[in-house]
Amino acid sequence: MSTMIPPLSLKDSYDRVIRDLRISITDRCNFRCFYCMPKEAMEWQPKAEILSYEEILALAEIFVSLGTTKLRVTGGEPMVRRDVESLIARLAKIEGIEDLAMTTNAHFLHNRARGLREAGLQRITISLDSLTPERFALLTGRNELSQVLDGIDAVIEAGLQPVKVNCVVIRGINDDQAVRFAEFAREKGVHVRFIEFMPLDNGKIWRREMVVPGEELRRRIHDIYPLERMKSENLSETARRWRFVDGAPGEIGFINPVTQPFCGHCSRIRLTADGMIRTCLFSTVEHNIKRLLRGGATRDELADFIVAAVEKKEDRHHINDPEFVQPLRTMSCIGG
Ligand code: GTP
Ligand code: 5AD
Ligand code: SF4
Repeated sequence: MSTMIPPLSLKDSYDRVIRDLRISITDRCNFRCFYCMPKEAMEWQPKAEILSYEEILALAEIFVSLGTTKLRVTGGEPMVRRDVESLIARLAKIEGIEDLAMTTNAHFLHNRARGLREAGLQRITISLDSLTPERFALLTGRNELSQVLDGIDAVIEAGLQPVKVNCVVIRGINDDQAVRFAEFAREKGVHVRFIEFMPLDNGKIWRREMVVPGEELRRRIHDIYPLERMKSENLSETARRWRFVDGAPGEIGFINPVTQPFCGHCSRIRLTADGMIRTCLFSTVEHNIKRLLRGGATRDELADFIVAAVEKKEDRHHINDPEFVQPLRTMSCIGG
């Protein structure tokens, strides 16, 4: 009988394999999306607390050696951090990474998309919650829709496929734009994904009534542009994917964490800009790997710490339970 060595993998106590690491590289952002950051001055993390690119790289390498195959760079807004291209270039060289992506508000993309691709970035996901200039300004605190649209065009031109556009939908604020977004997907050939608003906002404004079930949006779009469900190859995917029956380019996705939670197949773990491992978006405890790293721990000690943290990964979020407690950290610090 031959002895097979199983591929290295990080597993949590519910037998979920953790393959995706999301790295927030800054808590800062140049936008002020009202559901994420308050308009008044945010208190940023002191620079000394933020992991250097060398530290991020050292940890990413250990994660990959433990079975991580997918990396996503997030923020705050990752492109406000100096020379993010140099970090991407170094992450891209880690052997074993199959997917390297970044989530951004697209403000800086119009003249940097190509450079990011050259650095080795494979995909860019853009956050965009409105297609009308006034509403965009209201939502983000910045009157810059056209620059963001130029950024999306630049990503398309750079050939970073597929281009995904994430739209957080809030009742009464932007839920009337679903069909307009579907048209945008068709015109640009991008994947538009509607995300249910989650209680991770800074101002604690989240109310259940503000959540627009993805299914409601799907029906609204389907009435105008019929949709058909696509088979998903990947169980841990956040989005339920649909294509246009008439064969138009583009895709529509629904990320429904509130009405259709997908925790059972979660493969994600997060590293915050200040060096904490978060095993769930909604974790109320964090694992301080920075202390160990800066204290001179060996590679094996850091790996053991990661394995132990993953074992403590929460089974699911509790948004729908009466005892739900919103985590102290908001999306701008966790990175989405
Ligand atoms: P892709 O590989 O491009 O499909 O990445 P993704 O599906 O992880 O998507 P992305 O990083 O763009 O995440 C989109 C949004 O989905 C985030 O901004 C969150 O709002 C939500 N989301 C992502 N991961 C999780 C998760 O683990 N749990 C919950 N509840 N929501 C998540
Ligand atoms: N609920 C759901 N998604 C959110 N995002 C930010 N805040 C929330 C929230 N409260 C998403 C944004 C962006 C990503 C970084 O996180 O759409 O794409
Ligand atoms: Fe995973 Fe937590 Fe998100 Fe559920 S809420 S999918 S467990 S990160």
